[in-house]
Amino acid sequence: MSIFSAVLLFFGASQLYWAWRGYSLAAARIRSRARRWAVCGAVLAAYLMEYQYNLGAWREPGTPVRLTFRDALLAAPFLWWAASSFIACVVAILFAPLRGMVGGVRWLLARRRAAGTEIQSPARRQFLERTAAVATGAPFVAGAYGLLYGRLNLQVTAQAIRLPRLPRAFEGFRICQLSDIHIGPFMPADEIRKYAAIANAHKPDLVALTGDFVTFDPYTQHAVVDALRGLRAPFGVYGSLGNHDAWAGVEDSIAGLFRLAGVRILRAANVPIAANGESFNLIGVDFQSLRRFGPSPPVQRLLGNMEGIVDQDRVNILLSHNPETFDRAAELGIDLSLAGHTHGGQAALEFISPEIAPSRLVTPYVAGWFQKPGGQLYVNRGIGTIFIPIRIGAPPEITIYTLSRG
Ligand SMILES: [Fe+2]
Repeated sequence: MSIFSAVLLFFGASQLYWAWRGYSLAAARIRSRARRWAVCGAVLAAYLMEYQYNLGAWREPGTPVRLTFRDALLAAPFLWWAASSFIACVVAILFAPLRGMVGGVRWLLARRRAAGTEIQSPARRQFLERTAAVATGAPFVAGAYGLLYGRLNLQVTAQAIRLPRLPRAFEGFRICQLSDIHIGPFMPADEIRKYAAIANAHKPDLVALTGDFVTFDPYTQHAVVDALRGLRAPFGVYGSLGNHDAWAGVEDSIAGLFRLAGVRILRAANVPIAANGESFNLIGVDFQSLRRFGPSPPVQRLLGNMEGIVDQDRVNILLSHNPETFDRAAELGIDLSLAGHTHGGQAALEFISPEIAPSRLVTPYVAGWFQKPGGQLYVNRGIGTIFIPIRIGAPPEITIYTLSRG
């Protein structure tokens, strides 16, 4: 059974669990049987209508690139419910053994009471029940936070990068990175224009775009290129492509559209960035992975085709959508890698521990700055979302790097 099938099966089970919880609540609160069935029937009808709309919308061609009323009123609540009810069911399962143990203790106490012993613990029982209710309710609150605020709470990160070999002409050189745009109803074209304006307001010397401009729909490529064409930097706007650009089948066409918009996408290619007779080597690669990842076939060797374009005599800066290339990049002598792809976990529980992020299952490089002999890496959390328009503990990010000789 694939992971996707297992998740789908568990999702179905979680919906049955919530149906049972909902009916139990109605049974406890509504005495009249007719009224109870009427309320449950109305809730079920609304629930099924949500499914009908959302599953139907996914089959329709053409992803909207603006937030429509239908997306705000029907898709957003559905996605919030789907994610929150799934996680809340996991929490309820984790609490089940504890509740079972307490149920056993209650049974024993009841037996001792029946035998004349004066032992009662209603306070402890209430405490556990309230804790379980708060814990299973928390994913719904966190989901609403991530949908309404977390995914829009942009952070502009200032990151100093020290490069021992940096030419003097680039002391204080500033690069602005945007990543993982994922244009769609929850990252509309107008919103992307705002992010581009924020990037321009920081007056970077160069702009780096590290892929996943679209999600699955190739028809959205024109809109995302159009929204980013306003980016300005004296040394140019460069980019690399992500796995979603490959999955949507737009790698060649979006690179062409960007070229017409004055943005150069580097596809296993390099370009010298020169000032005052000195230069560094800017490199870009398409998404690549050693494992099969979605429709993308695996490569035999990461950065296997790069030896010829890494310049051992100059500083090399790599734009690579996914950070898995970092180990090999450091071996090749690439001084700095700029990546994205992970969305910082998108729903990382950073307020508990930065270690808790789903992306950590596939890469140790989830977000932020890393260093190893031979190179440095920064993983940008991106600005868009995939599948569920929710960000918790992983706010959207624009990174401004300032290079210095160190
Ligand atoms: Fe990606």
